[in-house]
Amino acid sequence: MKTYLVTGGAGFIGANFVKYMLNKYSDIQLVVLDALTYAGNLGTIIKEVEDPRCVFVKGDICDAKLADELFAKYNFNYVANFAAESHVDRSIENPQLFLITNILGTQNLLDAARKHWVTGKDANGYPTWKEGVKFHQVSTDEVYGSLGAEGYFTETTPLDPRSPYSASKTGSDLIVNAYAETYKMPVTITRCSNNYGPYHFPEKLIPLIIKNILEGKSLPVYGDGTNVRDWLYVEDHCKAIDMVINNGRIGQVYNVGGHNEKQNIEIVKLTISTIRQLMEENKAYREVLKKKEIVNGEISIEWINESLITFVKDRLGHDQRYAIDPTKIKDELGWYPETMFAEGIVKTIRWYLENQGWVEEVASGDYQKYYDEMYAKR
Ligand code: NAD
Ligand code: DAU
Repeated sequence: MKTYLVTGGAGFIGANFVKYMLNKYSDIQLVVLDALTYAGNLGTIIKEVEDPRCVFVKGDICDAKLADELFAKYNFNYVANFAAESHVDRSIENPQLFLITNILGTQNLLDAARKHWVTGKDANGYPTWKEGVKFHQVSTDEVYGSLGAEGYFTETTPLDPRSPYSASKTGSDLIVNAYAETYKMPVTITRCSNNYGPYHFPEKLIPLIIKNILEGKSLPVYGDGTNVRDWLYVEDHCKAIDMVINNGRIGQVYNVGGHNEKQNIEIVKLTISTIRQLMEENKAYREVLKKKEIVNGEISIEWINESLITFVKDRLGHDQRYAIDPTKIKDELGWYPETMFAEGIVKTIRWYLENQGWVEEVASGDYQKYYDEMYAKR
């Protein structure tokens, strides 16, 4: 049986990973470490933490004593480090928090792993490591910077981060690499493009647009809406991480992407038309509007149209285009994006229509304050 430390497992991708792994492997132990920041929600994995194969620990990845205790208690085979501050707009407001969590938090976990996984020294003075252990860093395509109209990010594209968020994720990758070089620590890194799917916090483009449509609010599109992102269904990302942890070559970086480039404005228009179509087909979905009482109890889908789109002030330093070349992970591990976008976006929107309780739960805390402050400036 393999034991995994899954940090950030109450967030969007981490929670999907916890569900994916428990579904796939019967003989597994997961220890989820999550600080439950605004982006983490225990409710998302409540069923999973009731399973004896999954333990939840509320705590900070920067807490050295806690990391040490967890390594001592659980004898981890693998670390999957998802925990991070993940939202670019918030990093523009408060860069330091991103550096603390993403760089120092990662380094703290690396140190705990080093303390518990090193078995001795080789003839050259390098540490020797417990058989089969691995530290996996969940990274992002944003470390490569921004593309023009042509080309793709490969694993050898020079690192060129441009936002405080991407600079902090690059810092995490570099410290992971430094431990690999200096201590011969067994590590892997995946760099993934934009994920979408269930449990995505509604500060990010797709869930924010869905939430606003259902509340009859305007849909803020930054700049002229021509920025391009390469969208990947979250379960495909989870599958890639599982493959890399279990079969990826030590010390390697793998890019993970959906070959699914779309301009933001296309995403917004497609989301509008899909919600409208789903509501036209299904009375239960129209009821979502009724419950919100935004049309005086009358079900009206007429106002779900492109007139809701509002072009707002652009993000500072807004990266123009991301696009991943996933050839390496495909050739070495046989991974490919299984969920086509046309299918994935419908699945995602259906999930949000059927899980409004989850949206209300995660958006209860400080969300409204965040939204009002962030978008008042635009
Ligand atoms: P998220 O913001 O939804 O979740 C982050 C989780 O980490 C939350 O549960 C939060 O409570 C937890 N966390 C934050 N600070 C912590 C700390 N100091 N200690 C312990 N837990 C802490 O993020 P996400 O979208 O699920 O992203 C997960 C990882 O994947 C991140 O490392 C992110 O950089 C990377 N990534 C995300 C995407 C994407 O499209 N969302 C794409 C590529 C890579
Ligand atoms: O590429 C991977 C990255 O994708 C991850 O590393 C990040 O953690 C994740 O947040 C995501 O970053 P983005 O900045 O690309 O995602 P976001 O959803 O914030 O924005 C997607 C695009 O939509 C981006 O070009 C900005 C634009 N946007 C976003 C919001 C929230 C809008 O036009 N309006 C909005 O209200």
